Amino acid sequence: MAEGSSIESISHEQRRFVPPKDFAAAAHIRSIEDYEEQYKRSLADPDGFWAEVAADSHFFRKWDRVLQWDPPFAKWFVGATTNVSFNCLDLQLQRGRGDQTAILWEGEPVDAQGRPRDVQRITYRELHRRVCRFANALKSIGVRKGDRVTIYMPMIPELAVAMLACARIGAPHSVVFGGFSATAIVDRVNDAESHVVITADGGWRRGAIVPLKATVDEAAQASPLIRTVVVARRCGQEIAMQPGRDVWWHDIEQGASDDCPAEPLDAEHMLFLLYTSGSTGKPKGILHTTAGYMVFTAYTARLVFDLKPDDVYWCTADIGWITGHSYVVYGILQNGVTTLMYEGAPNFPEWDRFWSIIERHRVTKFYTAPTAIRAFMKQGPQWPNRRDLSSLKLLGTVGEPINPEAWMWYHAHIGTQRCPIVDTWWQTETGGILISPLPGATPTKPGSATRPLFGVDAAILDKSGQEQPANSGGYLCIRRPWPGMLRGIYGDEARFRRQYWSEIPGVYFTGDGARRDADGYFWIMGRVDDVIKVSGHRLGTAEIESVFVAHPKVAEAAVVGFPDEITGEAIAAFITLKTGIAPSPSIKDELSRHVAHTVGAIARPKVIRFTDALPKTRSGKIMRRLLRELATKGTVEGDTTTLEDFGSIARLREEES
Ligand code: WTA
Repeated sequence: MAEGSSIESISHEQRRFVPPKDFAAAAHIRSIEDYEEQYKRSLADPDGFWAEVAADSHFFRKWDRVLQWDPPFAKWFVGATTNVSFNCLDLQLQRGRGDQTAILWEGEPVDAQGRPRDVQRITYRELHRRVCRFANALKSIGVRKGDRVTIYMPMIPELAVAMLACARIGAPHSVVFGGFSATAIVDRVNDAESHVVITADGGWRRGAIVPLKATVDEAAQASPLIRTVVVARRCGQEIAMQPGRDVWWHDIEQGASDDCPAEPLDAEHMLFLLYTSGSTGKPKGILHTTAGYMVFTAYTARLVFDLKPDDVYWCTADIGWITGHSYVVYGILQNGVTTLMYEGAPNFPEWDRFWSIIERHRVTKFYTAPTAIRAFMKQGPQWPNRRDLSSLKLLGTVGEPINPEAWMWYHAHIGTQRCPIVDTWWQTETGGILISPLPGATPTKPGSATRPLFGVDAAILDKSGQEQPANSGGYLCIRRPWPGMLRGIYGDEARFRRQYWSEIPGVYFTGDGARRDADGYFWIMGRVDDVIKVSGHRLGTAEIESVFVAHPKVAEAAVVGFPDEITGEAIAAFITLKTGIAPSPSIKDELSRHVAHTVGAIARPKVIRFTDALPKTRSGKIMRRLLRELATKGTVEGDTTTLEDFGSIARLREEES
């Protein structure tokens, strides 16, 4: 493995991989010339281009106009009515895909021979039936079009059923990742003003039950908005059901009809909210609507994963993140292929679980995160080597920059040097993939997400909006609207404008730093704001800081990210305790537990350091840059001239050595 940081290896990266000939020959886009030509056309006539793409989807009523753009507000397919659930299900039945497996699900528990105990194959016909029934059940408990429904579930088929049922009746869903805590549920429920929570008794993770219902109980204690809790039975253990509030999924489904025609919804009807971290303390409810998101996810899934009717496609992301929304559920089902869902941990019962799933179900397309690849790399190639991975045709990554070493390992040991790799760049806000190789067309360079997809006008700009020359770093921006873009931050227009559209007026600011090389390839360098990526999951420094400060013993906190071999970034917290409280290892433990309990285990800091004062500028702003340097290198060499009290850094540095 090469030495040095990923940024260094990126700049020395010379390797190129052309798409395998046989793959290219059968691909949707077969050559780089083809890509170039279509890309030009897509930007020359975006309306014509997207109208053509949308013709593959079903609309109850056709649009009057493809795009109405009053920056920063876009409306796509204006005047059309459609339904995403219809496109994922009914349209597939019309196309003769009824007997095809829609969801192939594997639960975590295994028997004595190591075989999975719970496997379900749900056909499109069966999924349609289950979604219709549950949609009727939701109606029967009073859920109406426009009501926001919170979903807090393990990776079981009911999660997808719940989303599709909401979409079917026009009730926007807000999925909260099952690893988050009660506080996270409460914040999201309150912000979305959601009265119904759908959950399960629990889910399996590393051989233990994650008690989801108990967490919802805790949330419901804290939020009077929660009036109804629907509980799916997964683990079967005893749980408390509160009469008048809690209902079993199977009970409300009793007697519900299988007939539930999909509601024709306005193109801009809210499909879902998904909360994500930004640079201030409060999570933002990223708002996505119906037609644009639908068309964009279907199209990008088809091209980037080169989907074909017999594909068994597996994206390992939890549905609680945008990757799961777009590329486990919506984008994939619209293509009528099989989407695999796995409930549990990658190392249960052993480190070859993923590879055994690929072998068992003959997975053809596999999409995962760099942090997972690095973890597998550390365990060694003997785990994938003992499994038959010959069904694989394509690999993908998402969530953070992939270091070329990890890319090469993925290529060698999982793709066995045969499979193209698509390194896909996108965000919760973008709804779908914006920058990625097309696997039959784009030569890849390990560590680069390569080139923008059709209709995507990506550029590297400086603060003044000037486009940067080749290989100069700058801000990654998108200069034109695209169908999958967010339509706002729920209930906060000012923040929407400020966060994404004011840094460089008129263009979408991604918050990522990047450069573009002489071949027009994008190399993403990471966030330029106060967002940390731990195992590919977004966490805001300000959010975690306020959790620390909420602890009775903490006076002040500063949180920064620093590089970590496996998780990409890890969290370092610099803490000032209240007067009279002495630092100790037990307080460290207490604070660490406090954060994990309040936010979720992914926010647990790797390093906690106590200090009598945080380094601040004269105007009182915490100099996180210095703390980041300290956490990364153990010393501070950067400019400290604006520091109010240099002693704070000196003391931290001494303590380090
Ligand atoms: C980062 C995940 C480099 C980036 C879909 C972005 C990436 C943030 C890549 C969004 C990639 C995502 N290469 N960086 N291929 N994909 N990112 O909202 O910093 O969880 O801004 O969406 O992840 O994270 P989010």
